[in-house]
Amino acid sequence: MKISVIGCGYVGLVTGSCLAEIGHEVVCTDNDAAKMQMLESGKVPIFEPGLDAVIEKTRRDGRLSFNPDPGRAIEGSDASFICVGTPPLPSGDADLSAIDSVAKLIGTNQRGPRLIVEKSTVPARTGQQLKRALSRYGRKTNGHFRVASNPEFLREGTAVEDFLHPDRIVVGVDDDTSEKQMREVYQPILDQKFNCPVHAAGCPPVTPPEFLVTTINSAELIKHASNSFLALKISYANMVADLAERLGADVDEVMHAVGKDPRIGPSFFRAGLGFGGFCLPKDLQAFVRLAERTGVDFSLLKEVERINKQRIDHFVEKLRRALWVLRDKQIGVLGLAFKANTDDIRFAPAVELVQRLQAEGAHVRLYDPEALERAKSTLKNVQFCENAYDTAQDADVLVIATEWDEFRTLEWERLRDLMAHPLILDGRNLLQPAQMRALGFEYHSMGRPDPGSRGTDGRSTN
Ligand code: UGA
Repeated sequence: MKISVIGCGYVGLVTGSCLAEIGHEVVCTDNDAAKMQMLESGKVPIFEPGLDAVIEKTRRDGRLSFNPDPGRAIEGSDASFICVGTPPLPSGDADLSAIDSVAKLIGTNQRGPRLIVEKSTVPARTGQQLKRALSRYGRKTNGHFRVASNPEFLREGTAVEDFLHPDRIVVGVDDDTSEKQMREVYQPILDQKFNCPVHAAGCPPVTPPEFLVTTINSAELIKHASNSFLALKISYANMVADLAERLGADVDEVMHAVGKDPRIGPSFFRAGLGFGGFCLPKDLQAFVRLAERTGVDFSLLKEVERINKQRIDHFVEKLRRALWVLRDKQIGVLGLAFKANTDDIRFAPAVELVQRLQAEGAHVRLYDPEALERAKSTLKNVQFCENAYDTAQDADVLVIATEWDEFRTLEWERLRDLMAHPLILDGRNLLQPAQMRALGFEYHSMGRPDPGSRGTDGRSTN
């Protein structure tokens, strides 16, 4: 099929290049001229494992192209995927103005596509509004448009893998032609028949994904309900962590056992600094606002949000307990990205943490394997370091704020000797308490007791 993709952010680039990878002819466009120039010159503006290889290969094969002229990009395509941003407004609602602009672009383009696929995360009922907007803008061109909602469940850091080997494909439609066309788009993935760029040696056997056909409203609701539930699981684990800390239990042991129940499941139970990124926090807010506007009291989710916001307070309090006064302390921070394997620092807990520490008068040295470039334009008066060892130099404490794998295997003896005081606060429970203490560190983490206090009087020294 001929497909156009509007919006070249994380979702648009992964969607466009992966659709090209499975055999479609794809043109991507974006109104950010600098980004388009970069893409046309072969550079990928974001760090996403495997993405540059897929883009390079599909461009070489002639199935993927970039066109800065949106009108030209959509001309002649069978379907157009809307992948523009829906950032939060000050009210918490999603800003849908970019979707409206795309509706105008498509509606007024006579030779544009007739199937419009909404992939951006939007509140339920946006599809209905989009349909109305398209026919309003298409009045003069006599355009008749069909709309499908096709929410994405991509995780940054594994987005290419998630696209090509999804656990489900959700398609919200209200007519048979759209369903048929959407099935055609995804058939190679449903059959798992394509040359997988992720597993060079061939994919491990995977269960083909389910193709779930729903109404457009349901598809939109599925996306918000999924992300909000993930957020809820994390906040739940974080509250259990706080309780475990008071009771001298170990949150990792607890959530591991709780997650063994197939009704509950093991993932998204990692306690720590809380969830960040450009999806969970904003989608949760938008979902709460949607509920409010429809007269449904979803205060459960407000609690989830409140708990998450308090994680940084809780962590700063821990630092204060360990260091007493924060003013003029040298704090080495390892990790800034909102999670590992991405350079994305939007709504990253570590960014807020660094700003809070600076507000307390502490001096911050910072290292992140991928996010330093982005950090430089966001954070001021921070000493950016080339590696973890540089960060540890004369530090009063080392804070682990992102769960990068490379932090698991650092030369800890070397780090200990570089520091002014061998103190670690692990905000992601990345390291093993007993091991760190054996290496001579004072070590505190989230919801895990000191080894010495286990099973004694129930008081945590964490
Ligand atoms: C999230 C969802 O996981 C995807 O399914 C969804 O498609 C995507 O949003 C989206 O809406 O586009 P992502 O933002 O990439 O994906 O990040 P997650 O992997 O969900 O992590 C979010 C945050 O939660 C991170 O800060 C992470 O460190 C934190 N987290 C995650 C925890 O604190 N504990 C956990 O157990 C898991």
